[in-house]
Amino acid sequence: MPIVATMHPLIEAAGRHGELPSWSCLSASRREHTESVAALIDEWNVALGVPDAERVRRRGAATLHDALKDAPPDDLRRLVPGDWPDALLHAPAAALRLSEEGVEDEEFLLAIRYHPVGHPEFGVLGEQLYMADYLDPGRDFGLEGREALRARMPDAHHDVLIAIVRARIMARLETDAPVMATSIRFWNGLIEA
Ligand SMILES: [Fe+2]
Ligand SMILES: [Fe+2]
Repeated sequence: MPIVATMHPLIEAAGRHGELPSWSCLSASRREHTESVAALIDEWNVALGVPDAERVRRRGAATLHDALKDAPPDDLRRLVPGDWPDALLHAPAAALRLSEEGVEDEEFLLAIRYHPVGHPEFGVLGEQLYMADYLDPGRDFGLEGREALRARMPDAHHDVLIAIVRARIMARLETDAPVMATSIRFWNGLIEA
């Protein structure tokens, strides 16, 4: 299990106390979402018997993942290289800011950077964040389907992950929206595993 020897104080504060950095920009309802994602992830990790430090790290990722969700896209665009769509800019922007703050935990940064779209090199942290972000009981779409998937966690981690990636990619296809290459690579890696 990839526990980083010394946890960055920002991750420790977020994971242990739900504290956000001063540069965060998210609404009260979005804050409720991140707290709910952290609680869901922690429920899984308690059930899995994950050691305390790793639980703090994973809760930290949940607390921080949408830290820039409500920042103006123009501001985020200035930070983020590449062709990220406006709605997703908050993810790579938060990873970039955390890295500027001295966070060197690459698995953690990858989980934040790709949390809305997935990445084939996700560790358990990234996969849990991707899943909990979608399964947050506070979100009001696909209630029954998502409740059924929550009920299978954490035991059916791999199968639930596949179901979520499929649902998210299908939702893009059904609205003729582009699918990022990283999502396809994530999907291909999962079904080959
Ligand atoms: Fe997000
Ligand atoms: Fe989120």
